[in-house]
Amino acid sequence: MRIVTSAAAMQRLAQSWQRRGTRIGFVPTMGFLHEGHLSLVRIARKRVGVSGKVVVSIYVNPTQFGPREDLSRYPRDFKRDCRLCRAADVDVIFAPSDAEMYPRWGEATNEPAREDARPTFSTYIVEEKISRAMEGASRPTHFRGVTTVVAKLFNLVLPDVAVFGAKDWQQAAIVKRMVADLNFPLRIIVAPTVRERDGLALSSRNKYLDAAQREQATILHRSIQRARVIVKRKSVSAAKLKADMKRFIATAPLGRLDYVEVFEPTTLAPAAQVSRGTHMALAVFFGKTRLIDNARL
Ligand code: PAF
Repeated sequence: MRIVTSAAAMQRLAQSWQRRGTRIGFVPTMGFLHEGHLSLVRIARKRVGVSGKVVVSIYVNPTQFGPREDLSRYPRDFKRDCRLCRAADVDVIFAPSDAEMYPRWGEATNEPAREDARPTFSTYIVEEKISRAMEGASRPTHFRGVTTVVAKLFNLVLPDVAVFGAKDWQQAAIVKRMVADLNFPLRIIVAPTVRERDGLALSSRNKYLDAAQREQATILHRSIQRARVIVKRKSVSAAKLKADMKRFIATAPLGRLDYVEVFEPTTLAPAAQVSRGTHMALAVFFGKTRLIDNARL
């Protein structure tokens, strides 16, 4: 397994694979890997085969964090991530620095660097429809950072397939939209959410929960199960279901509901009426930690 930290070196390596006709599978991550990430790695490997290459990027992307979000305290353990990737048969870890991904004046343009050099990275990709609601409403600049860094990573890793987790359903939908709209020559695969035994979706942020919060955090998954039971026999209005969900989530007193939404799974168009097959997503704060989950009902 190789660890590549330079953007140019990553791109050269991917180009050399491409010239030889080697298929490239890609799993973008922010590190602190868990079984959910490893399930994406296994899917990438399956897609490209033993002769293909699997690249995992580990990069905590600052542009997708808001000014009051957890960028500095985002959990990191690069050594452990390397161990897990090696065991999962990853070929390359791409772990660039911020300076590699968002170059300063001079470094990007070959002009002489100045003493007062400030980051002048200034090109962003903005999805304008499905990124506005839910996560986009709670975190206004989040998806602009995600689409921008994912587009950059695609240009550096040159994947044939890239695998994203269904836990971030809106993110996956936006990335698919971007790939279609901007003609990226690759296929996006969305892999099922991996859960703890009690239903909590795996997330690097689960680490922030104290014991009592951890116990109540199953309210997200239990809400989905409850909604499934409600819509199993007959459809209900979105307003009625959301009101029920709010009351139910209030039974976990350490949780504070951020949003619960029901929508069509591809376009993310809000549903007025909810039946089997409608998608539901929710976000709940436990202290400062914000957990998300979603599922088809
Ligand atoms: O889902 C994530 O971990 C991140 O949003 C991603 C896709 C790696 C982009 O930084």
